[in-house]
Amino acid sequence: MTTLIASSRDYGALVQEDRVHSAIFTDEQIFQDEMERIFHRTWLFALHESEIPNFGDFKRIQLGRYPIIATRNEKGEVQLLINRCRHRGAQVCEAARGNAKRFQCWYHGWTYDTTGDLVGVTGPEAYDEDFKPEQYSLAKVARIGSYRGFVFASLAEHGMSLDEYLGPTKQYFDIMVDSSPTGELEVKPGVVNKTMYRGNWKQVGMDGYHPHYVHMSVFKIFSKRESTTGSAVGAIHLEDPFADASKSRTRGFPHGHACLDFREQRRPHGVAAIEELNHTDEGRKYVEDMVAAYGQERAQELIAWHGDPHLGIFPNLQLIHDHVRVVIPISPGETEVLMYPVFLKGVGQSINEKRLRAHEAFYGPAAAGSPDDAEIFERTQRGLLADAEPWILLGRGIRREQVDEDSSVAGCISDEITQRAQMQEWKRLMTAR
Ligand code: FES
Repeated sequence: MTTLIASSRDYGALVQEDRVHSAIFTDEQIFQDEMERIFHRTWLFALHESEIPNFGDFKRIQLGRYPIIATRNEKGEVQLLINRCRHRGAQVCEAARGNAKRFQCWYHGWTYDTTGDLVGVTGPEAYDEDFKPEQYSLAKVARIGSYRGFVFASLAEHGMSLDEYLGPTKQYFDIMVDSSPTGELEVKPGVVNKTMYRGNWKQVGMDGYHPHYVHMSVFKIFSKRESTTGSAVGAIHLEDPFADASKSRTRGFPHGHACLDFREQRRPHGVAAIEELNHTDEGRKYVEDMVAAYGQERAQELIAWHGDPHLGIFPNLQLIHDHVRVVIPISPGETEVLMYPVFLKGVGQSINEKRLRAHEAFYGPAAAGSPDDAEIFERTQRGLLADAEPWILLGRGIRREQVDEDSSVAGCISDEITQRAQMQEWKRLMTAR
């Protein structure tokens, strides 16, 4: 390891305007500090409300180093309970998901309800009179917030509001949610692609520079067979990403959020997409319902955009094409990625089936898109460990950045604005006191 890391923990020095030190991807101590200073301090995506719609529904999730039970209590409130028994610390819930009105610890049988209250103690007579069960509820995540069904959590009691944290990115959430005529999504907890790769968590997603190399063979096949309405996947990447005149933009927002904005490239295809939808009864109904809900102009652009915001919310959420993606860091060189296909409420079954088939074609375990990404992340991690020249370059397009109306910093789709935005937030959080 280089002296820069060994001699001090000056994380500000590791992220410069146009380059970062590769230790931030490989160093074990930096990874541990990321858990404390980023994942245990800022807002994290927890789950979508539709994953636990009913009283007692639960799902196990991971927030930083904390195992969490996400559940819905009797009042219909989402609860994020730390999955650690107040007796001697065992995880009380081991099932990945399900429905339960009680969580009973496997070790000695202490039992908690869906609000986390301790409602049963094995052999209570052995405890002193001053033992008060109400003092031993499961601990809770400090703060919960949500935007249009997306539930976020912060393990820190104090800090900026979720509203401020998301800022101008909320309009990009709207692109995904409003592709449903009822403005509702359904994320099914059991329908997930799970990928584990031997690379760092900060590698995942939001790179507009790589598709013409990593994915070109797939895009050539898709361009011959994808319809305009099935998915955005096949339609986006054949435009020359290196032309200054490219309609697609890369955007960086405050707090490390970033987006590959394909809206202007897709907008002219709205008419053709509607024509194709009109070939089937369910497609025609979808168009009619979208127009009724949003008006002709907005409905046409929402249909053209395919519900794909291509948005990354730092540090662990991405909304890409037809899915919600959750990034779970395991170690500096191991990352788990969960991809949940998103279904639209208020549409015919064929509409959602087509979205799911399109998702599988690129991101499924037998597809060619995600495996290519995982492979390149692993090759990158192996290269980063050879740190004789430790700085990696993120300066592409830095002299042609512009500030757009939505306050994002924007540039050509292949510019490394997204990486720079993420790294500057990394630096802010890692150096904050
Ligand atoms: Fe849970 Fe003992 S550790 S009941």
